[in-house]
Amino acid sequence: MRVLSGIQPTGQPHWGNYFGAIRQYIDLQENNDGFYFIADLHALTTVRQPEQLRENVTNVALDMLALGLDPNKATLFVQSHIPEVTELTWLLMTGTPMGLLERCHAYKDKKEKGLSADAGLFTYPVLMAADILAYDSQIVPVGADQIQHIEVCRDLVGSFHHEFGETFVTPKAQTLDQGAKVPGTDGQKMSKSYNNTLPLFGDVKKIRKQIMRIVTDSRPMEDPKDPEGDHLFELYQLFATPDQVKAMDAKYRAGGFGYGEIKKAVAEVSEEHFDTARVRRGELEKDLDSVNDILVAGAKRAREVAAEVVGRARQACGVG
Ligand code: TRP
Repeated sequence: MRVLSGIQPTGQPHWGNYFGAIRQYIDLQENNDGFYFIADLHALTTVRQPEQLRENVTNVALDMLALGLDPNKATLFVQSHIPEVTELTWLLMTGTPMGLLERCHAYKDKKEKGLSADAGLFTYPVLMAADILAYDSQIVPVGADQIQHIEVCRDLVGSFHHEFGETFVTPKAQTLDQGAKVPGTDGQKMSKSYNNTLPLFGDVKKIRKQIMRIVTDSRPMEDPKDPEGDHLFELYQLFATPDQVKAMDAKYRAGGFGYGEIKKAVAEVSEEHFDTARVRRGELEKDLDSVNDILVAGAKRAREVAAEVVGRARQACGVG
């Protein structure tokens, strides 16, 4: 199956991004033809510092490769390296009803807050549809918040086909498994907008400090504690083995155990989990030329597919 997804280079990825998306993309490379791209054109709707945007793109590539994306199995590339996608965006835009985009949440939310939106944000879902269609994608793994955009894409395929005949592969969304709860440092869901994230990479000592500062209730040390729904316990579960989880469960219930101890344990299991990736990321950082080579090779492969598809679309609607 051609599986495709895009990652916006808007900031430092955190544990929530990893468990909710990145890890699943990497797993999908095993039995599929994975196409993963860094959505720098989409990021341009929010990141307006050129140097920052470039740096973010490199960082996403480093993160993906360090975490196990294998360029021999999947194709990794940068969205803007494929000009056919922006061309296809225009072809699709001519048949896109205004009302369809007015209902899309990113634009609608901004409008409702009384903020002014630009045309990039308004037409964001059409660029996203072009991303998907340009590579004959069959499956698009995304978080629940992106399902609406896949529906827009499917709508646009339907109306293009109705007017011009069969041209594209109709994609299907695959909702990522967001079953594992990833709490942030304040106990709420981990999210950039709550400012409660723990990063995947960075200064280990600093991350450890952030973990030690995670909020807890003020129950005295000697009291038994309930692991059920406890955010530190939930964080521990993400990384620990079933045996480690069982042992920690018993410690909670027995009492005489402070939250400092589980914080230390969370730091240990998480550091161990990301250790190989951290080392690998360090090596890649020293060898940015080969990271660049991977992106160039990825773009070449992606571009061959996109050129073919956009050729079909041009033919169908009578341009070129
Ligand atoms: N909009 C997606 C997000 O914010 C990123 C994205 C851009 C994407 N183009 C895509 C995802 C195409 C899947 C397919 O997460």
